[in-house]
Amino acid sequence: MDLRGGFTSRIGFILAAAGSAVGLGNIWKFPYETGQNGGAAFLLIYLALTFLLCYPVMVGEIAIGRKAGLDAYGSYQKLGGKKWGYLGLYGIICGIMILSFYNVVAGWAFGYFIEISFSDLLEEENYGAFFGRYVVDFWDNLIFSLCFMLITAFIVIKGVQKGIERASKIMMPTLFIILIALIIYSLTLPNAMAGVKFYLLPDFNEITIETLYSAMGQAFFSLSLGMGALITYGSYVDKNQNVLKSAATITVLDIAVAFLAGLLIFPLVFSQGQSPEQGPALVFVVLPGIFQAMGPVLGKLVGGGFFLLLCFAALTSTISLLEVPVAYFVDEKKIPRKTSVWALATLVFLLGLPSMLSQGAVEMFSSLPFYNGKSTLDFVSEVFSDISLPLGGCLMTYFIATRWGTKNMSEELAQGNPHYKGSFYERYINFTIRYICPVLLGIFSILIILDKFIGLDKLS
Ligand code: PHE
Repeated sequence: MDLRGGFTSRIGFILAAAGSAVGLGNIWKFPYETGQNGGAAFLLIYLALTFLLCYPVMVGEIAIGRKAGLDAYGSYQKLGGKKWGYLGLYGIICGIMILSFYNVVAGWAFGYFIEISFSDLLEEENYGAFFGRYVVDFWDNLIFSLCFMLITAFIVIKGVQKGIERASKIMMPTLFIILIALIIYSLTLPNAMAGVKFYLLPDFNEITIETLYSAMGQAFFSLSLGMGALITYGSYVDKNQNVLKSAATITVLDIAVAFLAGLLIFPLVFSQGQSPEQGPALVFVVLPGIFQAMGPVLGKLVGGGFFLLLCFAALTSTISLLEVPVAYFVDEKKIPRKTSVWALATLVFLLGLPSMLSQGAVEMFSSLPFYNGKSTLDFVSEVFSDISLPLGGCLMTYFIATRWGTKNMSEELAQGNPHYKGSFYERYINFTIRYICPVLLGIFSILIILDKFIGLDKLS
């Protein structure tokens, strides 16, 4: 093994990359985005975009990383020349900013785990009000998100093999089992079918331009695309692994968890008579109800277990988010792993403080005058993930199309997949990356920027 380390097995890489993909994006963000964007119609577009556009983007990212064998910055530079390195830096900055707010939400999940298991959260009467109080509690938020950042840092210090691989192996399967058990339970509740209808019967009148770009942003965020996370993980992958197959497994796993999360949340939303459009609070407001209904003992056990698993899922994502800048400092600046990790973890934590205080705790952060009065958390999440990830994907595919070349990418992908060349897959991946992704993702990016900063309705 070389000094950078690597994944010991195909399953190790798949678990780690799927661990990166599966996280708050699936269980927290996906349901509330679906709820805000018309339910089933959003789900349909999200699935189509994931298979048609995001899968090739994922294959391209892993190919770049495996070919170059370096961090995001070094990989672009090695394959494309000095200037392309900036695209790697762009991804690294996105990673740092995404982690800054992600860690805050992970802190909420961690707090809920503690409050359900060791305190009396399940005796509350109004979970909307409880969440509102919870997110403005300075000390709780500070301590829980600090804990989360510390755990992430410890695991990343242990390096790729030991830390990430081992952690992913236990957590993913357990998450599936508990999700399915909860879905079965929630489907038996009164009015649950109204939720199923909302989630699975599309109303095409609901589709707007916003639905399209929200689904695109959600797909990129959920699959950890567009910022070099998979370039970085790809750089640890063996040449004899079949990248196409691994990417397909990761995509399907990620979609499966998001889909199941929706199938759990919407029956609950409707059976509790709640609105599906309440945004980031949604799962925190809706989920405790199901645990409360189970009675004090079982509720604590299952509810605590659920939020603990949500924390694990978030942890494998924060690990990958931190790994991106860490790999850059280790590979490019030759700074020891441990120093890089502590410096970056501190920086990210500090950068996250305004987001943490933006849920009503501090007025200045809670309502940004230059961003339609939205919160800092909304601002950071919309700018650095909803806008920047599809834009990053656009530039990444443009890089392959015009600089590295789909021919070179094919060479790389044929390693570990001898039948790749000349296959339908090759033609599909090359065509999508060359023509469809750069153009379509470019258009999406322009639309979302115009809408978020000017408002599309004001333009027409
Ligand atoms: N995909 C992760 C999630 O769904 C978030 C993430 C985004 C992780 C980008 C790494 C890179 O929670």
